[in-house]
Amino acid sequence: MSVFLGIDIGTSGTKTLAMRESGEILADATAAYPCHFPKPLWSEQDPEDWWQATIKTVHEVMNKSKLKPADVKAIGLSGQMHGSVFLDKNNQVVRNALLWNDQRTAAECEEIESRAGGREALIEMVANPALTGFTAPKILWLRNHEPENFAKTVKVLLPKDDVRRRLTGEMATEVSDASGMLLLDVAARNWSKKLLSKLELDSDLFATCYESEEVTGKLTPEAAQTLGLTTDCVVVGGAGDCAAHGVGTGVVSSGILSTSIGTGAVMFVHSDKVEIDPQGRLHTFCHAVHGKWHMMGVSLCGGGAFKWFVDQLCQELAGQGQTKKDPFEVLIQEAAAVPPGAEGLFFLPYLAGERTPHADPDARGCFIGLTLKHGRGHLVRAIMEGVAYAMRDSLSIIQELGVPVNETRVSGGGSRIPLWRQIQADVFNQTACTINAEQGPAYGVALLAAVGAGAYQNIEEACGATIKVVQSLPANKSACKVYDGGFPIYQDLYRSLKNDFKKIAALGS
Ligand code: XUL
Repeated sequence: MSVFLGIDIGTSGTKTLAMRESGEILADATAAYPCHFPKPLWSEQDPEDWWQATIKTVHEVMNKSKLKPADVKAIGLSGQMHGSVFLDKNNQVVRNALLWNDQRTAAECEEIESRAGGREALIEMVANPALTGFTAPKILWLRNHEPENFAKTVKVLLPKDDVRRRLTGEMATEVSDASGMLLLDVAARNWSKKLLSKLELDSDLFATCYESEEVTGKLTPEAAQTLGLTTDCVVVGGAGDCAAHGVGTGVVSSGILSTSIGTGAVMFVHSDKVEIDPQGRLHTFCHAVHGKWHMMGVSLCGGGAFKWFVDQLCQELAGQGQTKKDPFEVLIQEAAAVPPGAEGLFFLPYLAGERTPHADPDARGCFIGLTLKHGRGHLVRAIMEGVAYAMRDSLSIIQELGVPVNETRVSGGGSRIPLWRQIQADVFNQTACTINAEQGPAYGVALLAAVGAGAYQNIEEACGATIKVVQSLPANKSACKVYDGGFPIYQDLYRSLKNDFKKIAALGS
């Protein structure tokens, strides 16, 4: 039997799945780990947690599906993008990794722009402006703030690529994830020597860059033994979680928009050529489809906003003896009973600052429009609507740039909530399609593994054989009207509050 593993090193946990060549999922498993917030807007994780979660989930999947070690022919890796794993000469991490939603690097973003010769020159070199979440500013932050750690660092790897190092012993990455380091010549699909030299960064700091379906190595004897697999098992490049999600939802050609609500929220489109938003609001990265690209808008708080609300304010629900319900379910029911527009209550989901379209680490989360009439259900509905408005901000730019959107596929944990699917359909004024494959990034990289192992000729063929739309949820016209009226108000609220956010951030909160 030929089986392929997809391993996704996410922010809240690692998910592993085993997939047959036909696309059928045999088993999956997840293992959670913590995120550390040592200061406001700082966000870190311990790479050891990713490795332990990888071991645990691979064992669980192998046990559940009763596979023999030799059945597993290839592994694909996906992971949260932009994170920085700093390794010393003995391959030990010099400090915890800084994550994609860490906002400490505003000064370094300015430094990068100025060293590059301005924003336009930077976009010319790497297709994107400097954003606080990206990897290059994190490296400069280490050099500026922890010079002793920088001096020890000989390699900087992305999260999934650190797991690859432990699987194969290879220092390798691939084009889709490498694009988010802000050091890749995205058009040429290799490191930008020009920018590296302007930033005075040695190219030896970085891994060898592959295409996503290419084989980057085989399991070492030690890794094979630890995981219960064989040394014949190859590891393909894989993809950053956004491109992996794109593949896992079949977005491997133009005209399909993938919307995903995970910890953040992403609006993703395929592109046959390098298309760049001149204002740098959308990211242009290499796609996991060989020789193709994608554009995307990223909101830093999507499902994370709902989770924050539940964790901080609704813990008592979990203990309510009579209902014994999942707190999320109770809250979703309450939100569903509130009409579209949450009776005038708005939520700005900027709990971690915001990326698209504001690129503003100082932005803050807020409920606006509260009255005595509003209850908990209104707050929850406003959160879901606020996240969907933030995603519409990205959709508006996609539409403004003339990128075709003929079909919208909604996915990710948040989209499993029927109410949040309907809200997306209504806020975007688009039919929300769901597909047969719900596993997103892990599924996408399992498909890439199948391609790398020769089961399919290319990723387009693999997606065509395995992914199809199973449900179409039309937009509700009267709700669309409410949201068309609400969206400009939502947009104005940020403009009105922007300077106040700066003052609040200056308080050091
Ligand atoms: C993409 C991004 C996030 C992370 C975490 O640019 O920052 O989607 O990849 O999932």
